[in-house]
Formats: sequence, C-alpha cells, structure tokens
Amino acid sequence: MKFTDEIKRRRTFGIISHPDAGKTTLTEKLLLFGGAIHEAGAVKSNKIKKGATSDFMEIERQRGISVATSVLAFEYDGVKINILDTPGHKDFAEDTFRTLTAVDSVIVVIDVAKGVEEQTEKLVEVCRMRNIPMIVFINKMDREGKDAFELLDEIEQKLNLSVTPLSFPIGMGYDFKGIYNIWEKNVNLFTGDPKKDIEDTIEISDLGGPELDKLIGEKAADNLRTELELAYGVYPEFDKDEYLSGNLQPVFFGSALNNFGVRELLDCFVSIAPTPRAKASEERTVQPDEKQFTGFVFKIHANMDPKHRDRLAFVKVVSGMFERNKPYLHVRQGKNFKFSSPNAFFAEKKEIVDVSYPGDIVGLHDTGNFKIGDTLTEGELLHYRGVPSFSPEHFRYINNADPMKTKQLEKGVDQLMDEGVAQLFTLEMNGRKVIGTVGALQFEVIQYRLEHEYGAKCTYENLNVYKATWVETKDPKSEEFKEFKRVKAKYLAHDKRGQLVFFADSQFSLQMTQQKYPSLKFHFTSEF
Ligand code: G4P
Repeated sequence: MKFTDEIKRRRTFGIISHPDAGKTTLTEKLLLFGGAIHEAGAVKSNKIKKGATSDFMEIERQRGISVATSVLAFEYDGVKINILDTPGHKDFAEDTFRTLTAVDSVIVVIDVAKGVEEQTEKLVEVCRMRNIPMIVFINKMDREGKDAFELLDEIEQKLNLSVTPLSFPIGMGYDFKGIYNIWEKNVNLFTGDPKKDIEDTIEISDLGGPELDKLIGEKAADNLRTELELAYGVYPEFDKDEYLSGNLQPVFFGSALNNFGVRELLDCFVSIAPTPRAKASEERTVQPDEKQFTGFVFKIHANMDPKHRDRLAFVKVVSGMFERNKPYLHVRQGKNFKFSSPNAFFAEKKEIVDVSYPGDIVGLHDTGNFKIGDTLTEGELLHYRGVPSFSPEHFRYINNADPMKTKQLEKGVDQLMDEGVAQLFTLEMNGRKVIGTVGALQFEVIQYRLEHEYGAKCTYENLNVYKATWVETKDPKSEEFKEFKRVKAKYLAHDKRGQLVFFADSQFSLQMTQQKYPSLKFHFTSEF
C-alpha cells in the first residue's frame, strides 16, 4: 500500500468521560466489532476501585491495566483505528490531558441519567481549546434518564458546544424502542440482547408513511415525527468541515452494555473522523505526508517489574515512517538512537514492528533517556509543542527518610518526574524540594514506588499553597520584576527546567499579586 494510503486509513482517537459513564464498555464493544477481541469482559477497567484492597495495591493493579490498555488498535472496514486510553479518575487528569495531545479526535461518552458531569466538563474544555473534533455518545438509553432535548441543551450550555443529533432515541428506559438513525435514515429496534453484534436495521424511506407506525406503534411514531421535526428545526444540518474544525459536534444515542447504537457510531466515525492531522512545532507546522519521520513522546510507562528498570516511551508518529533499527535524532539530547524492538499495539497485545505510519503509536524501550514532550526526527531540529505541565494543586515538602539511600531517592524522584507522575520544584530561598501534583493520590503512588522500585524512603510535610503559576517577564531587568522577586522571595521556586514559578497561598493573593505587578504574566501551564 502507498504511504499516503496508509495515512488516509488511520484514525487515532481517545474516549473521554466521567468515571462510570461507560467508556470501558464502549471500548470493548468497538473492539468486538473490529474482531480484535471475541468476548465481553476482555477489556479491563482502568478505574481506581476503592475498598477491597489497600490504595497502593489498587494503584498497582490500575498501573498494570493501564500498560495493557494504553493503546488499543484494531481494523474495521479497512480502517486502522487506534484508541488511546485516558484515565477517568480526576487525580490522573494530567495523564489524560497529555494523551489528548496525541489524538486526532475524541468521542465523549455521557450517561443519559447523569448528564454532563465534572470530569467531562474539564476534558471537553481542553479539546475545545485545541479544536479537536468531537462526537458525543449518550449512553445507557436502556435506563430512565433525561429527555433528549434537555440533554442536548445541557451539552450546549455546560460544555459550550454546538451539537446536532445524528441519531434520535425512540422512548427511553422501560419504553426504549430503539433509535432513528438520521445519518443513515433507518430505524434500529432495541431488543435488549447484549450478545447481538450486528443489528438488523430497517430502512425508512418516508418518515410520514405507515411503515413507521407498523414498526413502533402509532403513538411512538407520531411522537418521533414531532421530535424529529423539532430537532431539524433547532439544530443545524451536519457539516463535515464544521465538525473537523471543532465547530459542530454530532450526537449519537445508544446503550453500550447492550451493544446498541454502537455500530452506527462506529460507521459514522470511520467515515467522518479526521485522518492524522498536521502538528505545530516551535519551528514550523509538520504535515503527516512529509517523507521524513518525526514524532513526540506523550507518555512514559515504567516497567512493572522492579528488577528491570526499563520503561516504555509512547511516541506518536506525526510524519514519515518510523522504521526499526534506523537511527533517529533525540533532539533534546542531540544524540542519535536506534530502536531494535519498537512495539506496536494490537487490541491488548503488543508486538515488535518494522514500520509505523503517521497516526500510529510506537512503544520504545527506554532506560531513562526520554522525558514527556521529547521530539524524535531524522535530523531536523524540531521541537513539538503541546505537552504542557499543568499548574499543580497539591503541594508537599519531600524529605529523605533514609540518609543511606540519598542517591536512590534522587534517581527515583528524577525518573518519576520524567514519567510525569508529579512535578518537582526547588524553593529559591532555601533549596528545599517540593512536590506538586494535580491529584492527592499521586503522593501515595510516589512513596510506594520509591520504596518498591528504588529502595528509597520519603516522608512528606504539608505546605500551604493554593496554586503554582509560571512567571513570565518581558524584561528581567525591570524594577517591577526586581521588586517582585524581593517581596515574594519566600514564594518563589524553580521547576525542573529552571523556569520561575510563583506559589500563591490563596486565590486572593494571586489576584493581588497580578494587580500589583501588571507587567508580569502568571501562567497556569508551563507552555506559553
Ligand atoms: P467507565 O469506563 O466510563 O468508568 O464505565 P464502565 O464502562 O466501567 O461502565 C460503568 C457501569 O455502567 C458498569 O456497571 C457498566 O456495566 C454500566 N453500563 C455501561 N453501559 C451501560 C448501558 O448502556 N446500560 C446500562 N444499564 N449500564 C451500562 P457496573 O455495575 O459499575 O460494573 P460491572 O460490574 O457491570 O462491570
């Protein structure tokens, strides 16, 4: 197959949702359609379950699962689909944000009864800011939930999206009869049989005709006609370009558990979802069909076996072909590296591959050379943008609890930070080390992994910080900046790259500081 055809047949996306909306169930049904798995229950949930086991055992279990489900690839209708896993738990939101830098589109899953939830709001906002094309799937139609129009309205209001339904439910919960597929103009009746993998759909050429009444009963048919008329009146017609530029979001209804409405979603997805997109670097925008290979690291996964300290760096191929045993430039280090056993992912297995194409994810074995955000090229000095660090919200001093193991502690902390588990700051005033995280669970992860993987022990001490912000000044010699540094000396630190960070102890003090030093900018991500 030609190089450009390989690009055209790839779709790389992520499924985002609030925990419990049905992301794992939907993923599994999609894999079933692709023939990548053969039974339900094969895809493990990456959720953090509380209760039965201690928290760190749970974290380890979750980590094991997330290695297996980092990338799930399958083929459907000649299309190569790569699903990138996104943890739903809010403490791991930063992982999800970073993964979103490697997707070309997303599917947003919403629970029909719960509607738009907190995590959905946060994740959708990140996608909206990056103009990532989104398809919405409203799940659990077999249960009682909100009215379709009410939900569509809620999605527009709370998520700031502009939607148009491409399927429409006929009843819900106990009375759920099926869906009318606006996209394909047919009706799919709900039988509630989860084992059914291909649904029989019934073409409806004329919505006004008697066919529909026979199929779902007069009352339901009339209802559907009224609702569709209203929907056609209120929502814009679907426009692929508007969807691709992130301005219009098509909506589907279904029940993932019953494998209902999933085929419609998948068929539409393969026909409209974007092929691998161009990506901006600091130097220029890179097109996927350029001949030379380029890619970037968006995720690093530590080996589960503490005896082997090697890690898997996940690289998204942006342009060209990634080939086994070919030397590539690690731009940050200025050194060439060859990879003898790059992994590709298929369903839940990974295997060594010779060639990968734009849109694909390659897993590279790494002994500590990579950091999140690193760029690989065939020699060009490119730096891909878009894998930022986010302003942490939880802060603690980290102390060494075993003076004999200082080296191990330093190495462990260093590597865990490269993996993106948390961020390390050094206070300007006294050189003390502070760990900042997006979720509170990360402190446990760090302590547990330092002990089990590096043989080092740490303790924490509380620190009252509301948020860390990155400080930008146009003129480091200005009186204003000098005064800021003097007055706020107690609250200044440096991140691992040496960038200046301001620790605000409250929202109020952050606002006051912004007012007092108007020439300085305080950023909530490290990328500005
Ligand atoms: P998540 O990955 O988004 O966190 O959600 P997951 O797929 O694990 O689904 C959360 C719960 O919702 C599961 O039930 C799942 O069976 C259920 N579910 C998913 N899709 C549907 C649907 O279309 N209809 C109905 N009625 N339920 C659905 P659970 O009891 O938490 O887990 P399990 O013990 O069944 O695995």
